[in-house]
Amino acid sequence: MTEPSIVFDRVGLAFGGEAIYDDISFSVGRGEFVCLLGPSGCGKSTSLRLIGDLLAAQSGSVTVDGKSPSEAWQEVAFVFQSPRLAPWRNALANVLMGVELRMGRDEARRREPRARELLSMMGLADAAHKYPSMLSGGERQRVAIARALAVDPAIVLMDEPFSALDPNTRRRLRAEIESIWQRTGRTVLFVTHDIEEAIVLADRIVLLSNKPTRVLESIPVTAPRPRRVSGNPELDALRDRLQRLFQSLEHIAPEDSAS
Ligand SMILES: Nc1ncnc2c1ncn2[C@@H]1O[C@H](COP(=O)(O)OP(=O)(O)O)[C@@H](O)[C@H]1O
Ligand SMILES: [Mg+2]
Repeated sequence: MTEPSIVFDRVGLAFGGEAIYDDISFSVGRGEFVCLLGPSGCGKSTSLRLIGDLLAAQSGSVTVDGKSPSEAWQEVAFVFQSPRLAPWRNALANVLMGVELRMGRDEARRREPRARELLSMMGLADAAHKYPSMLSGGERQRVAIARALAVDPAIVLMDEPFSALDPNTRRRLRAEIESIWQRTGRTVLFVTHDIEEAIVLADRIVLLSNKPTRVLESIPVTAPRPRRVSGNPELDALRDRLQRLFQSLEHIAPEDSAS
């Protein structure tokens, strides 16, 4: 691995007496694309919240480029499962929203050409003036991705960003994210519970256990990109193995609708 960007060092966290993490350690290298895969409720979203300084660890430490999350939040951008766009802003203004909140209106105005470029990178060159209600679910999620990139973050955190989309849109957006990542070299931590998605996208898959959560395996995926799982014996075998592991985890997971 290259120089680490995100480091979880023996992190412990409990909510109301229930241990989520007991003693979890893992890291993400600078420029690396890591998929965090694990059963529902194991603390995937929680780990992103720790990195983004929306929550603090109770023991151990989380560092982001050698700094505490509270010092590093400017370097981090989020893409959530639902796009969370402002309905009263058009697509362009939504893309610039993060810039405006972090760096002010003047900077947002200066970055307008860049925002348009990002929209066109996401296949939305003609949609800059459209409001969220005029966009499809997939288009809204693309706006949210462009918004995350518009702040020019060193680190992009994605929390099951494609799970609400239909399979075709999902496949297309995966390919787009992969190609943007290849061009921009950002560090990406991508949460998913879709095994095939993790295999297609990841440099490395970090597989999490049930609570109290620890890292079960850290699996480098070295197959050349773009990848197709079916028809590739090595990736097929990896999928089968992960599926078996995952089934045993989901099987003993407590009734929990958290996602
Ligand atoms: N603010 C909170 N207060 C209490 N429990 C929480 C809170 N946030 C998450 N949890 C619990 O922590 C566990 C991990 O949640 P989460 O990180 O959302 O899981 P995942 O994203 O892996 O599905 C779940 O059991 C969830 O119910
Ligand atoms: Mg989650």
